[in-house]
Amino acid sequence: MINVTKPFLPPKEEYDRYLHGIWQRNWVTNHGPLANELELRLKEFLDAPHLLFLNNGTIALQIAIKAAELKGEIITTPFSYVATTSSIVWEGCSPVFVDIDPFTFNIDPAKIESAITPQTKGILATHVFGNPCDIDAIEVIARKHRLKVIYDAAHCFGTIYKGKSVFNYGDISTVSFHATKLFHTGEGGAVFTQDAELLKKMAYLRNFGHETPTSFAMIGINGKSSELHAAMGLSVLPHMPELLNKRKVLSEYYHQVLANLKIRQQKIQAGTVYNYSYYPVLFNSEEILKRSIEELNKYQIFPRRYFYPSLDTLSYTGEQICTVSRDIAGRILCLPLYHDLSFEEIDMIARLLLRVQNN
Ligand SMILES: Cc1ncc(COP(=O)(O)O)c(C=O)c1O
Repeated sequence: MINVTKPFLPPKEEYDRYLHGIWQRNWVTNHGPLANELELRLKEFLDAPHLLFLNNGTIALQIAIKAAELKGEIITTPFSYVATTSSIVWEGCSPVFVDIDPFTFNIDPAKIESAITPQTKGILATHVFGNPCDIDAIEVIARKHRLKVIYDAAHCFGTIYKGKSVFNYGDISTVSFHATKLFHTGEGGAVFTQDAELLKKMAYLRNFGHETPTSFAMIGINGKSSELHAAMGLSVLPHMPELLNKRKVLSEYYHQVLANLKIRQQKIQAGTVYNYSYYPVLFNSEEILKRSIEELNKYQIFPRRYFYPSLDTLSYTGEQICTVSRDIAGRILCLPLYHDLSFEEIDMIARLLLRVQNN
């Protein structure tokens, strides 16, 4: 069976070495030595000034929205995973969808200003499939209208924009370390910020608002992760250069063998060192997409309609129609991509897709 993705599991003895220490110390959670070590190692690896390791990427979004004190309307993208929108609603804010650019699949900055109202408090945009948004244009708009910017950078581990980790942009960036992500801790996530005040606030928010064991600086939630998850991250991290490179090689091979397929690829933002976190292809019609999925499924190959559906169709966001996002969501398919996918398997996927096209 070939799934859209497959978690990378490090050699078991590397994980076992960390487990041994956990057993010796009998320290399982609450900011243990491995969680601290992972934060330090990630800062070094990513060259990021500040980050907090959390228990998932959704809590990261919620903590970011809470820390930025966004109360009101948040301008966001309809082309993302549901967690981007649901976090906004969960935090008592209203998502205002701005349609996407049909080529980069990211929020279209040219359409943001007309969506700003006196109630707008911030922008929450996703770097779709690890491809940076038009960060420079968004920053100009945010400065002009005094809006906070949060990037949902769930897919961005390893992406570099203009010489820096993409996590270093915006007031806050969030990431997911879910098992299906490029770098993972089983379940997990993080927030990044350059702002010491926001960092301090998010540290309180992560830990029930505790200032001391018996006093609370503010409301908080349980955003902590465990030593077991940190151990997984510490075991996966040394493999990242090799994993990032492998995905590049596999993606370039896909490009070659799909050269005659009538599809469009995502346009990557200029100035980016891309992380190849997904291999999305845009078909000419939903009908060809559906037939392609059917054909691949016959051979136990399971690509994923991602992102689908467009989030402006959710039942709890009110009537907002984003035609570009709906169109792209209806025609996009993420093909299998993971560290030990073979060239032969990619050949087979390409042959099946071409067969559908030529029938
Ligand atoms: C764009 C995006 N945002 C947020 C999330 C949520 O992350 P998590 O699954 O770690 O809660 C995901 C997860 O797939 C995602 O793809």
